[in-house]
Amino acid sequence: MVNLDPENIPRHVAVIMDGNGRWAQERGEDRVYGHINGVESMRKVIRAAVDCGVEYLTVYAFSTENWGRPEQEVTALMELLCKTIANETNELKQNGVRMRFIGDIQALSKEVRAAISKSEKETFQNRKLTLIIAVNYSARWEITQMVRKVAVQVRDEGLQIHDITADTVAANLVTAGIPDPDLLIRTSGELRLSNFLLWQLSYSELYFTDIYWPDFDEEAFYQAIHEYQQRDRRYGLLAKK
Ligand code: IPE
Ligand code: IPE
Ligand code: MG
Repeated sequence: MVNLDPENIPRHVAVIMDGNGRWAQERGEDRVYGHINGVESMRKVIRAAVDCGVEYLTVYAFSTENWGRPEQEVTALMELLCKTIANETNELKQNGVRMRFIGDIQALSKEVRAAISKSEKETFQNRKLTLIIAVNYSARWEITQMVRKVAVQVRDEGLQIHDITADTVAANLVTAGIPDPDLLIRTSGELRLSNFLLWQLSYSELYFTDIYWPDFDEEAFYQAIHEYQQRDRRYGLLAKK
């Protein structure tokens, strides 16, 4: 097992869980088989995050662009989401995990919305790890709705244009109150952000691995944190001597 510095654990880790479809196809299986196996990886990563003291874990489960996939895959993903929330909430609750969902939740089916709101209510008191699941999320959607909200505050609530700051922007994103990710992990070898948390990832350390999501496990997660611990986060300043 990799040795981690307990003093330098990222407070917030974001993950683009990618490669389920290719993982399944390489095994001659339907893409949905990959999504089903991806749930187990999520379980492992949640466990690892709790064990090493990560406070926030955000995972990209379904993007606004993913609606364009074949209907059969979209339906299967939504069903899997409902089923997984129903099956896992109790255990997550017992393990001190608070669940939150970000994205255009209103546009989801009644069943999915009900599952989401139940799990958020039931785990509201938990403080060990906040698990944020991005569903029907895209950063451009998020930024657009932020602009609308701020415009309404200018029009109706007396907000002065010169008082709009970076803090105003952050406070009107769906991640308001959540610290920015320290580390972003993307699996499956793709080197892009795919419309994920564009504002929040401004100063995150980026980690890419070729491992497909269904093969990603605790050890792979710790490896990413180990690599993060070697980075020098300068934020535009000079290296520490
Ligand atoms: C990630 O795996 C899961 C979702 C986007 C829902 P993919 O389904 O994108 O798998 P690949 O990238 O096609 O292999
Ligand atoms: C990003 O993966 C979305 C999720 C992981 C939910 P995609 O597979 O949809 O992204 P692209 O198509 O490779 O950019
Ligand atoms: Mg993909």
